[in-house]
Amino acid sequence: MTHALEPLTADEITVATTAAKTKLTEAARFNIVTLDEPPKADFDRARQARMVIVPGPECSVIEATVRVDNGEITSWTEVEGVRAALGFEESFTAILALHEDERFKEALAKRGITDLSKVQVDPWPTGNFGITHEENRRVTRCISYYRENPTDNGYARPIEGLLAWVDLGRGEVLDVVDLGVVALPDDPGSYYPEHNEPHRTDLKTLDIVQPDGVSYAIEGNLLTWQKWSLRVSMDALEGLVLHQVAYEDRSILHRASISEMVVPYGDPGPMHGWKNAFDAGEWGLGRMANTLRLGCDCLGEILYLDWVYADEYGNPTKTENAICIHEEDYGILWKHVDLSGGRTEVRRSRRLVVSFISTVGNYEYGFYWYFYMDGTIQLEVKLTGIMSTKALGPDEASPFTPVIAPGLAAPVHQHLFNARLDFDIDGTGNEVYEVNVDALDAGDDNPCGNAFAPTATRLSTEAEAQRNADPARSRVWKIVNPSKLNAVGQPVAYKLLPGATPTLLGRPGSSIAHRAAFATKNLWVTPYAPDEKRAAGDYPNQHVGGDGLPAWTAANRSLIDTDVVVWHTFGVTHVPRPEDWPVMPVEYCGFSLIPVGFFDKNPALDVAPQAHCH
Ligand code: NI
Repeated sequence: MTHALEPLTADEITVATTAAKTKLTEAARFNIVTLDEPPKADFDRARQARMVIVPGPECSVIEATVRVDNGEITSWTEVEGVRAALGFEESFTAILALHEDERFKEALAKRGITDLSKVQVDPWPTGNFGITHEENRRVTRCISYYRENPTDNGYARPIEGLLAWVDLGRGEVLDVVDLGVVALPDDPGSYYPEHNEPHRTDLKTLDIVQPDGVSYAIEGNLLTWQKWSLRVSMDALEGLVLHQVAYEDRSILHRASISEMVVPYGDPGPMHGWKNAFDAGEWGLGRMANTLRLGCDCLGEILYLDWVYADEYGNPTKTENAICIHEEDYGILWKHVDLSGGRTEVRRSRRLVVSFISTVGNYEYGFYWYFYMDGTIQLEVKLTGIMSTKALGPDEASPFTPVIAPGLAAPVHQHLFNARLDFDIDGTGNEVYEVNVDALDAGDDNPCGNAFAPTATRLSTEAEAQRNADPARSRVWKIVNPSKLNAVGQPVAYKLLPGATPTLLGRPGSSIAHRAAFATKNLWVTPYAPDEKRAAGDYPNQHVGGDGLPAWTAANRSLIDTDVVVWHTFGVTHVPRPEDWPVMPVEYCGFSLIPVGFFDKNPALDVAPQAHCH
């Protein structure tokens, strides 16, 4: 019996897309084909595929569901005026169309470039700035780079000043704009080993071996390790999705994923000011998942999971080794030296890692979920890859665009992720409290002036629950089950501990502030609704904004003793530095989910001591 949350098999994909094709023309492309996850209340219903289909060149999609046991189409809805995530085939067609365009060739010739095979074109989501020729069309805005050799780092040689718009549905070049010629920078920016010699020779072998095998087990997509259990899947847009995360069969999260992310750039000029990529909703973190390689991406005893999905023609295909599962030693778990009794106890911490890496154009994002023996869950995002660059004219300088190499700069930008965390702390009736730790005022009850204490405030409505991080007040958000008390009479809870995270810096009222409204707050809370999955709405591509969290929370629904979904925006503001060039050492961001009275005491007391401490 297949569990309701097992991903679609290749055969199930074929059943679903074959059924859909009977109602489609040759022009149709499958944008998303995935398991139609059943609502919490309906796990026993027939398994279905959910599809987003782009039927032709217009701005519309078909949303369909199909039973995968018998191919019955159970819903078929045409949605007008929206754009699905950019397709791969149409993006490639856009590049080819541009290579044939006389205006584009002329602009390149002005820069001394006549060999089109040396021009790398990057199709970008164009945003929404009220440009007339983008209306009622699915459009990509293209920027270009020069590669003397096919494997050169194109981002070292931006073809500055050249912008082109292509209608993705029709492969038609709409406009080419030349803002003026800037010379190509000289630095080739190679990160290849042959260009970075001599190599270090003083690193000795470091092997991670588990001679007795691994401590985790997997059955279908059910992963168990220590007292943890969870289901793992991949979504085309969200990437890795965790389901039914539990500790000793006590429920913590029903579902956790990255619901959206945005990379807004801070340089206001015409060449870079429009850049704000929604890498989940406009491209798809799962669609860009890497095939991971043992010993390089992941070290040690690794279990890989393939991702089976449908290509744009509806045929089942897969990304091999898309999800990496392994254990890591993580230093000490706890320790005490009893100075008078002379006895020492120390335990090693180990964590289970579930991860994948997505390449979105110039950037890489690694998403690493960690599970610890003390009940802590952590999401760490690793940002690497190559920055979006700008060629500098002589003596050109801008506070928005720090210089990173001779003649080369990179606009300041943000990477803002939104994690959708559907908590079920020991059941679905949960509430969220904000906890701040503040000093008491001077007075009789504070004679030493030392007093400080936590204050918990229940966030009772969606409007009250739009909050920002405040590390000076040790701010956390606590998700509690008010009907379940621990041994000392407190409601069982987990806290969301944010990292050092910014919020969106785009001006209120701007296009990006509307379109990425989710990023203007670090915290949102909504009551569970099965169709509220994506923080910026289902179709952020070229969307005017206001969809998703701002639209849903306008109802200002109650959050008292209900099934809550927590939406956490976190990330980094990236001020480019020379050390980020030509490829960025990993930068980290993320958050932790930590038990607070969920257990009656340290849950890791039963971890056995090491057999040998030398
Ligand atoms: Ni960056």
